Amino acid sequence: MHKPGHFDLITNLNIAIPYHNDEIRVLIGNGASSKIINYSQNFGKKFLIITQSKIAELWLNHLQTSLEKIPHSIIKTLNLPDGIILKDQKNLLAIYNCLQANEFSKDDTIIAFGGGDITDLTGFAASTYLRGLNLINVPTTLLGQIDASIGGKNGLNWQGHKNVIGTIYQPQLIIIDLKYLASLPSREFNAGMAEIIKYSLIEETISRETNYQMGPKSFYEVLTKLSYENFNINHPSLKDIIINCLKMKLNTIAKDPYDQNIRHCLNLGHSFGHVFEALFSKDFNHGEAVSLGIIYAFKLSYYLNQNNVEQINQITGLLQNFHLPIKLNANLSFTWEKFATVLKSDKKRSTHSLNFVLPLSKLGLVNYKYPLTLSQIEAFIKTMT
Ligand SMILES: NC(=O)c1ccc[n+]([C@@H]2O[C@H](COP(=O)([O-])OP(=O)(O)OC[C@H]3O[C@@H](n4cnc5c(N)ncnc54)[C@H](O)[C@@H]3O)[C@@H](O)[C@H]2O)c1
Repeated sequence: MHKPGHFDLITNLNIAIPYHNDEIRVLIGNGASSKIINYSQNFGKKFLIITQSKIAELWLNHLQTSLEKIPHSIIKTLNLPDGIILKDQKNLLAIYNCLQANEFSKDDTIIAFGGGDITDLTGFAASTYLRGLNLINVPTTLLGQIDASIGGKNGLNWQGHKNVIGTIYQPQLIIIDLKYLASLPSREFNAGMAEIIKYSLIEETISRETNYQMGPKSFYEVLTKLSYENFNINHPSLKDIIINCLKMKLNTIAKDPYDQNIRHCLNLGHSFGHVFEALFSKDFNHGEAVSLGIIYAFKLSYYLNQNNVEQINQITGLLQNFHLPIKLNANLSFTWEKFATVLKSDKKRSTHSLNFVLPLSKLGLVNYKYPLTLSQIEAFIKTMT
C-alpha cells in the first residue's frame, strides 16, 4: 500500500448550482470524511452505505467511525460484489430492496462509497427511490474524486449500451478523502490521470465561458512538468491538482447544470472512448478508453483541418508518460458496422448527426458543438483502420 502525501488541511469548495435550493458542499483533504459530523443536521439519522466488498474490507471501518459520531445514527451497509458489471438492473434492485427492508424514508441518506461505478449506480437509486433521498458521495478512486462524483450525472447500462438510463441529481455533500487513494492500484490511478489530462485540454474554453480562472501557467503545462516527476499518490501537488479539476467541473456545472451547452466540453474524448470501452471492455477501463478517445478526437480534428500534427504528438507524449493507451493493438480490430452500432447509442446524438468536442489550434481550446454525420465519421474511422 502506498503512503498518502502531506496534505492534511481540509479545503471547502462550496458552490451554488442553479437548480438546487442550497449549495453543494465539497470537502477535500486527507481525513476529510471525519468532518461529516459538521453537516449532520442536513441528513436525518439513517444512512445506507453502498459499496463493494473490496472497498469495504479496506475502508468501511474508517467511514463508519465518522458516521457513528453523529448522535443516534443508524448505519446500514450494502456490499455489492467486486469484479462484475455493477451498473445494471440487478444491482439497482438490490439497492431498492435494501432501502425497503430497512424502511428508509425521504429524510434518510444514501452514501455512495466507491469509484465511478458505485457513484453512478447509487446516484440513480437515490434520485428515484421515493422520488429522491439525500445523497452523499464519498469517491474512492482518483477518477471518482475528480470527475464521476461531481455534477450529478448518474447512469446505468442497458442492453450493452453505456449510461443510457440515468438522471441528473446532485449530491448535497461530496467528500474527497485522499486517504482512500492509498490502496488504489497504479492502473486505476493512471485511469484518473486520463480525465485529469482531459481537463487540461479544455481549460481555456472553460475559463472563457465560466467563472473558473486559469493560473499563471496553463494546466497542460503543469501536468506536462509533473509527468516527468513521477507524479503519483505521494506527490505533494496531488491535492492541488484535484482541486483544480474540481474548480473546473463545478464552475462548468454551475453554468450549465442540465448539460445543454458548455458542459458538453467535458465529453472531450468520450464519444470514441465509449465505443472502445463497449467494444473492448476486457481490455480497457473507463480512463484508458478516454485516453484512446482523446487521441482519436485530436486525429479527427487534424483530419478536419482544425489543428496541427504537433498537438497530436504533444498529447500522445503526455498520455504515454502516464502509461495510458494511445493506440489500439493489432489484435483489437473492429468493423465500421460494429463501431457505428455503439456510436449510435451515444447520448450526444441528435436525429441526423453527432455532436463532437473538437480540439482547436491551441491546446486548451475546443469547439464543443461540432456536428458530424455518420458518413463523415465513417470516412474518418476508415482512415484509422
Ligand atoms: N457520472 C459522471 O459524471 C461520470 C464521469 C466519469 C466516469 N463515470 C463513470 O465512472 C465509471 C468509472 O469509474 P472508476 O474509474 O472510478 O472505476 P470503478 O468504479 O470501476 O473502480 C475501479 C476499480 O477500483 C476499485 N477501487 C475503488 N476504490 C478503490 C480503492 N480506494 N482502493 C482499491 N481499489 C479501489 C473498484 O472496486 C474497481 O475494481 C464508469 O462507469 C464511468 O461511466 C461517470
